[in-house]
Amino acid sequence: MKTLHVDSRTRLRPVRRTDAKALFALTESNREHLRAWLPWLDAIRSEKDTETFIAACVERARQTGAFTALIEHEGRACGVAGYNWIDAANHACEIGYWLDRDHIGRGIMTGCCRALIAHAFDVVELNRVNIPAAVGNRRSRAVPERLGFTQEGVLRDAEWLYDHYVDHALYTLLRRDWEAPQAGQEEP
Ligand SMILES: CC(C)(COP(=O)(O)OP(=O)(O)OC[C@H]1O[C@@H](n2cnc3c(N)ncnc32)[C@H](O)[C@@H]1OP(=O)(O)O)[C@@H](O)C(=O)NCCC(=O)NCCS
Repeated sequence: MKTLHVDSRTRLRPVRRTDAKALFALTESNREHLRAWLPWLDAIRSEKDTETFIAACVERARQTGAFTALIEHEGRACGVAGYNWIDAANHACEIGYWLDRDHIGRGIMTGCCRALIAHAFDVVELNRVNIPAAVGNRRSRAVPERLGFTQEGVLRDAEWLYDHYVDHALYTLLRRDWEAPQAGQEEP
């Protein structure tokens, strides 16, 4: 899998085994911020755990094409984004993401998702992109909303977050939504 260029300052580079040290350090420094919405923080306690995570990502990418990428902004790792899964039979995928606390609020994740969506439709030739987000996770929900996704519904108790369930808002974008002219850009 090749690197996806998001813009002149940001790229998505598929994770590799040698990223374990840097990725574990980034996880450590964002532990509390991420723990509010992501369920896997307690399972990542050492660099070895991150190595195991990366090995699983590399294997999944090899088998299904669903790659997980390190976000590099101005040359520094600042988060993770990629496909949680690709369903080849139904031409669908799910995007997941997180960002370092100090990099929030600059449009980095919206740009990364735009690149992942274009790759999904134009290169992998998928038809449907899913982004689920906890109903209370305003910043995460704003990413697909900004990109023109449709909220299809709410999945009740969809995720166990350490000591409680959260409902998920399910956002989807179809290839035909992506290809449709945006408001104000219609042919005359
Ligand atoms: C979810 C998460 C990645 C969203 O991060 P984010 O920085 O809000 O999203 P973006 O990088 O797309 O930035 C959007 C913000 O930058 C601003 N922005 C600046 N330039 C922008 C641009 N060119 N394009 C879009 N937004 C821009 C937007 O106004 C918005 O800020 P606001 O909410 O204060 O209005 C982040 O909050 C996070 O990592 N949370 C914890 C983990 C998590 O919840 N993961 C998702 C689980 S489903």
